[in-house]
Amino acid sequence: MAKQRILAFPKGFLWGTASAAYQNEGGNTNTQMARWEQQGQFPPGVQCGEAANWWQMAEDDFALAEQMGNNALRLSIEWSRIEPVEGHWDSAAVDRYRAMLTDLHRRHLKPVVTFHHFTEPLWLVDRGGLSNEANRRFFVRYVTYVVKRLGDLCDFWLTINEPNSYAFAGFHGAYPGERDVVHTLHVLRNLMQAHVEAFYAIRRLQPGGQIGYCLHYRLFDPAQQSSPLDRAVAGLHETFFNWAALQAGETGRFPFPLNLLLAPLAHAPGSRDYHGVNYYHRDLVRFDPTNAAELFGRRFTRPDALHGDPGMDNNFSEIYAEGLYRVLKTIHRRTRDNKPLYITENGVSDALDDRRPGAILEHLAMVHRAISEGIPVLGYLHWTLVDNFEWVEGWRVRMGLIELDPLTQRRTPRRSASLFGEICRANAITEEIVARYAPESVDSIFRPVSASPREYSAPSPSQAGSRQ
Ligand code: FCB
Repeated sequence: MAKQRILAFPKGFLWGTASAAYQNEGGNTNTQMARWEQQGQFPPGVQCGEAANWWQMAEDDFALAEQMGNNALRLSIEWSRIEPVEGHWDSAAVDRYRAMLTDLHRRHLKPVVTFHHFTEPLWLVDRGGLSNEANRRFFVRYVTYVVKRLGDLCDFWLTINEPNSYAFAGFHGAYPGERDVVHTLHVLRNLMQAHVEAFYAIRRLQPGGQIGYCLHYRLFDPAQQSSPLDRAVAGLHETFFNWAALQAGETGRFPFPLNLLLAPLAHAPGSRDYHGVNYYHRDLVRFDPTNAAELFGRRFTRPDALHGDPGMDNNFSEIYAEGLYRVLKTIHRRTRDNKPLYITENGVSDALDDRRPGAILEHLAMVHRAISEGIPVLGYLHWTLVDNFEWVEGWRVRMGLIELDPLTQRRTPRRSASLFGEICRANAITEEIVARYAPESVDSIFRPVSASPREYSAPSPSQAGSRQ
């Protein structure tokens, strides 16, 4: 009998899931998200409610993660609980997080803790939130407080989740409020600077900690490769959304043309221990001279693409595993291999769970491919453990390995949960696992490495307007 083929992951690889306080805890009413919900600024019916009720019983779900053989779990600390009123610290909230982190340790799940995952306390929001430069000091003070109180239980920190998507969604897209691209870019800069300042504050308190943040990497491919205009706008989208933040984080300087607007970041070089990579999907972009607001591009999903749940156009739509490989490669190249990488989020919305098993396997095969080419990817955190509240999309987006009925709080593990468990326990993808969960993917996953996935001929940096 032929030997079974295996994609083995490095020893000590981190396997787990990612989540966020607002999306999972419930009851976080002291934040701008809750205010928008109450003011009816979200689409009708979009209510976080109890979320996945983690404030009361996160440990029950941690037990499910433990049963899946995970060795890590990413969650976030809700600033508005820790500091509900400016300068007032709630020690009961700290104790609750202490209990959660202690439970994770007990279950051999390494806590990966985010300080800012899209929500801010109302007292800060009323002063302009982290879009206001003067407020960075509040963030550094909060981070310092938490590390002092919980640093004995955690040494892996993410300062800010996706400064790029928070800036773009918050100030130029999904969330209520402003629609101003210049302001959006200033918010991005301020968030990046806030990360740098928090990084040094944590480093002083915990010299051995792993400190970084994650960016949301979106791929934008030209609608037609043969069209120079499509290529140029797609490149511009990628520069604005992905590479500007990555480059500024590395060098302090934003690439052209953003550097005409944004001052360099102070003390940025070296201010991270890893690259946190959140990757979900790609858009195609067509040149559209009438759409100045979106950098003269019209975004859409490849019509024949494999999709997540219907109705997610431009948001978790195309399931495109090669994209993760391309993103890892590009980050590695652009940062000259200076830091390890972690996939800090990756997942699909698939309520019926008929595409998720294949998607998990194919994305992980791409992670494996990157590792086998020498890219130091050290962990993979799937978004997410149980279905949770997906911001403006509410509950229609279902990204959990475990199904959650938010009304009854009933959990039903999906097939993907047992698949993920098998992979984590084996620290590998075996041909036998693929054959059982996604037989249609056996050939693509175990193809010889020389038969590389279709390479994307990205526009050269000069065409894309980037100077990196
Ligand atoms: C990411 C967010 C996370 C979740 C996933 C689906 O961009 O960081 O909170 O919403 O998308």
